[in-house]
Amino acid sequence: MAQSMLPEKIQEKITVPRLIEFKRTGRKIVVVTAYDYASARLADKAGIDVVLVGDTVGIMALGYKNTVPVTLDEMIHHTKAVKRGVKNALVVADLPFGTYQASPQDAFHNAARLLKEGGAHAVKLEGGLHLAETTRLLTNGGIPVMGHLGLTPQSVNVFGGNKVQGRTPDSAERMIQSAHALEEAGAFGMVLEAIPAELSAQITTEVGIPTIGIGAGAECDGQVQVWNDLFGIYPGRPLRHAKCYVNLGTLIEEALRAYASEVREEIFPTEENSH
Ligand code: KIV
Repeated sequence: MAQSMLPEKIQEKITVPRLIEFKRTGRKIVVVTAYDYASARLADKAGIDVVLVGDTVGIMALGYKNTVPVTLDEMIHHTKAVKRGVKNALVVADLPFGTYQASPQDAFHNAARLLKEGGAHAVKLEGGLHLAETTRLLTNGGIPVMGHLGLTPQSVNVFGGNKVQGRTPDSAERMIQSAHALEEAGAFGMVLEAIPAELSAQITTEVGIPTIGIGAGAECDGQVQVWNDLFGIYPGRPLRHAKCYVNLGTLIEEALRAYASEVREEIFPTEENSH
């Protein structure tokens, strides 16, 4: 059979139970953020397991200083676009700041909007022990929940900056308790952000649900990276926990300069580009 006639490689549809299975079998989970249709499509085609519509959309796509100003309507708008680009990956959307902290009922109402209007398969919320009741209500009501412990960027004003968490014995102990509380409340996984590698290794061993690390060492069950960091299109200084696989920022800027100069020098368009 000619190469072009071969059926496309069938990719597996990723579900919540499948991710828990991956942890059991030791298959690492790959997560990337995406904020629009084109990026989500590429991530899905590349076989990424989970596409996270992170509230980092506020920084990366909307130009906010941090994630605090992001609204639920903005999250729904971007989640819809991402969902249209995805066939197989699980789509998880962040509940933005102020939409789930006040009460579990608030959280349920807003999370349901991310599923019903945005098309997300699951939601992520930042925090531990104090969100156990909320996590239980959401999960029992049919909304899969991913937790987020460690450096939780929506609390930037409490932390006084984006600082590594869990460095003292007390805060490490609280984080371990939070991880257990989230699991007991029904969360299907949790992001561990900017915490010591030994602490994330201990949490990963102790809980039965996947841990997804970012700046949390190699022992987590999976890793998450922010889209713009992977491709060098972050507007600020690169972060220690990020890896740039291809510097598209520089390439795109060079291409734009070439385009601008060709238009100004009347090199583009040629006859080939004309109708
Ligand atoms: O909003 C986001 O992009 C995130 C990741 C950094 C985990 O929460």
